[in-house]
Amino acid sequence: MRILVTGGAGYIGSHTCVELLNSGHSVFIVDNFSNASVESIKRVEKITGKSVNYINADIRDEKALNELFKRHNFDAVIHFAGLKSVGESTEKPLMYYDNNVNGTRVLMSVMEKYKVNSLVFSSSATVYGDPDTVPISENFPLRTTNPYGQTKLVVEQMCQEVCSANDKISIVLLRYFNPVGAHHSGMIGEDPKGIPNNLMPFIAQVAVGKRAFLSIFGNDYNTPDGTGVRDYIHVVDLAKGHVKAIEKLHNKTGCHVFNLGTGRGYSVLDMVAAFSQVSGKKIPYQIKARRAGDIAQCYAKPDLAQQILDWRAEKTLKDMVNDSWHWQVNNPNGYE
Ligand code: NAD
Ligand code: WQD
Repeated sequence: MRILVTGGAGYIGSHTCVELLNSGHSVFIVDNFSNASVESIKRVEKITGKSVNYINADIRDEKALNELFKRHNFDAVIHFAGLKSVGESTEKPLMYYDNNVNGTRVLMSVMEKYKVNSLVFSSSATVYGDPDTVPISENFPLRTTNPYGQTKLVVEQMCQEVCSANDKISIVLLRYFNPVGAHHSGMIGEDPKGIPNNLMPFIAQVAVGKRAFLSIFGNDYNTPDGTGVRDYIHVVDLAKGHVKAIEKLHNKTGCHVFNLGTGRGYSVLDMVAAFSQVSGKKIPYQIKARRAGDIAQCYAKPDLAQQILDWRAEKTLKDMVNDSWHWQVNNPNGYE
């Protein structure tokens, strides 16, 4: 298939491009490089031995998208482009609604115009908010506590409504749990700008000596060791989930929703211990107050993706940590 990948230079997008290319699909990337570098695309080419076309454009730029869709005959779109920092979204909600919601609206309207009827969208487990129980199934109530999460919910709803209005359209909403790790080559990985918000890149930077210690946000949660529990999923497993979704469902009309997680939760202290073991480095940490908006535990019931997409996460915690460490050591300053 000829697939347009928005945000394809980013963390999850670049890994997905590798898996798409390895599965024989062709990819075209549109990215505004607001949180990525062209170098990631060059590395995708090196890993796969295939060339990747891209344009530097914003998905809100309708004219640029029109030109693109006019020139190429895309079979499907995988849509990663968006902003993803929960903290920043509470400070700049309008920027998040514009980029994530308006950007998706523009993209979908151009898709409609050029009759490209298949879309896979990056949603997030954040749409479940603080769940009453775990593991979390797709039919759990949706509620969210921050503007970032709200943008994901609004886009999900927009997709459901577009599918109701047009019976030719197929949309897959993939709700990711906590993506971590990197390609095993150590050539592509997560390259956060500034101080990482997320646990795994922060631990990696402590292990490599870039930061003095990890702040653990609370050890008084109702979890086995008191620290927060999450469903960490290897980014390559996640990427393969997209290949399955596009291959199995691009012709199946309607709106389809799947959790992409492992079904298993690990605590912050589990992650620290695993990283310390793999890297052979001590990870100094300090217990701090809970981070506003954090929840005690969040992990998926991943059975639906297994039944319908024939997909399940295969990589272990050790793989996730090994590959993060390999990427961090090879690229201490990211793609710079
Ligand atoms: P990322 O920031 O690495 O990738 C996003 C890419 O989109 C970047 O390359 C960025 O330059 C590009 N981009 C942003 N706005 C754009 C715009 N208006 N036009 C064109 N390009 C634009 O993030 P990621 O971790 O790869 O996340 C990809 C998607 O998955 C996002 O939609 C994110 O919300 C979602 N998601 C991420 C996580 C996570 O923890 N990483 C979890 C759940 C969902
Ligand atoms: C994991 C655990 C923290 C950093 C976020 C978004 C979510 C999704 C994935 C996009 C928690 C603890 C963290 C640190 C710590 N993104 N922690 N010290 O919060 O589960 O999810 O990223 O959709 O929407 O909210 O991930 O990696 O930030 O935190 O103790 O320096 O690590 O309290 O228990 P989170 P995370």
